[in-house]
Amino acid sequence: MLRPQLFLRCTRRNFYRSAVALKNTQTLEILGDRHPTDEITNVTPAILAKVPVRLHTQTGHPISTLRSIIESYYPGFSHISSFSPLVTPFKNFDELSFPKDHPGRSVTDSYYINKNLMLRTHTSAHEVEVFSKGEDKWLLTADVYRRDEIDSSHYPVFHQMEGARLFSADASGMKEVEEDNERLLRHLESSNIIIEDVPHISSSNPVQPTHDPVYSELVAKNLKLSLNGLLLRLFGGSGSEEPLRVRWIEAYFPFTSPSFEVEIFFRGKWLEILGCGVILQSTLDTANVQGRIGWAFGLGLERIAMILYSIPDIRLFWSTDERFLSQFKAGEISTFKSYSKYPSCFKDISYWHPEGSTLHDNDFCDLVRDVVGDIVEDVKLFDSFVHPKTNRSSSTYRINYRSMDRSLSNKEVNELQGLVEARLIEKFRVEIR
Ligand code: PHE
Repeated sequence: MLRPQLFLRCTRRNFYRSAVALKNTQTLEILGDRHPTDEITNVTPAILAKVPVRLHTQTGHPISTLRSIIESYYPGFSHISSFSPLVTPFKNFDELSFPKDHPGRSVTDSYYINKNLMLRTHTSAHEVEVFSKGEDKWLLTADVYRRDEIDSSHYPVFHQMEGARLFSADASGMKEVEEDNERLLRHLESSNIIIEDVPHISSSNPVQPTHDPVYSELVAKNLKLSLNGLLLRLFGGSGSEEPLRVRWIEAYFPFTSPSFEVEIFFRGKWLEILGCGVILQSTLDTANVQGRIGWAFGLGLERIAMILYSIPDIRLFWSTDERFLSQFKAGEISTFKSYSKYPSCFKDISYWHPEGSTLHDNDFCDLVRDVVGDIVEDVKLFDSFVHPKTNRSSSTYRINYRSMDRSLSNKEVNELQGLVEARLIEKFRVEIR
């Protein structure tokens, strides 16, 4: 896991101490199964409520669209997105060679259901399982969970995409790598991208003892080229504006060597986007995969989506507000338009039109805007009918009052509504019902 740099800054660790822990409940129902709790249980109801949501599978949601764009960049890769977030600590850590004292294991950093069951902290937790099924080119998308501070780019649940590719660790496999590298290089040469690189292998980022250094170098190069191409696809834009700037940094992960992180320069800042490396041979051994060498990466989808869609706050991804969800179309990146986070106050107004009235919807809207200003968020014609006997027509509008920057009191809204009524009578001679 990238810790602490990429997804986690280890401050305010005790934040959840005071939150409702579920230690005293004897069992917890999660995704339809009951699990015993014990003295290390630290999941909270708020966290468990997120488990069934699976934003990456909600068509049209930015996280899901980003997933499909990345999937389409890697043709021929299998797609996996249905794995349960409940894993054993063994799978999340030990299988991936995490040392026994790694801070990620602690109850202050990770969510435990009990000693033997936790919420995965990264998608790498499924590497062994997927490799042992014989998959050698795959992408896995999932929700991951980490105890963390709260700010606009950190949330205790987020989504990662793990990608991996294996080659035969022999001359024919390396020929395949070289050909792919050639193709990727040509593509990048003709594009508007500036890449700061680090050596594929160095004394501080070593080749694994069981690897041929030439093979390891070729595979690391393939990893970098394919990810540079992906970043270009995601951030490169269509025109030839500012070049995209990417920087590669040496990193450490218990389950890859050499290992790297990638940052991109965006709006004046370097942003960490992903971690990756040449897969540790012992991971492949555990998965019973022989004679192969390969790479893996894990990228954070929220971070990338926040940049692509200009979404300013990571909490918005969890919004069920139509004003958020209705802005996005499946498969399309669009710029998010912000809206108020203060509550709505709905008021209805019904009136009889005077005889021969030409009062139009838009007249009504203009009048409302004129009287109340920007505090109106929307106005809907709620009902209209013609009285069968008197032949008079009636309209009911529902006005949604909401300020962009403060909560409105009911008294204030009633006063505004009174002003709207008065102006309607004065201007259009209506009769309020
Ligand atoms: N799992 C790592 C993380 O959570 C990222 C990673 C994936 C690193 C695959 C190397 C290989 O940050």
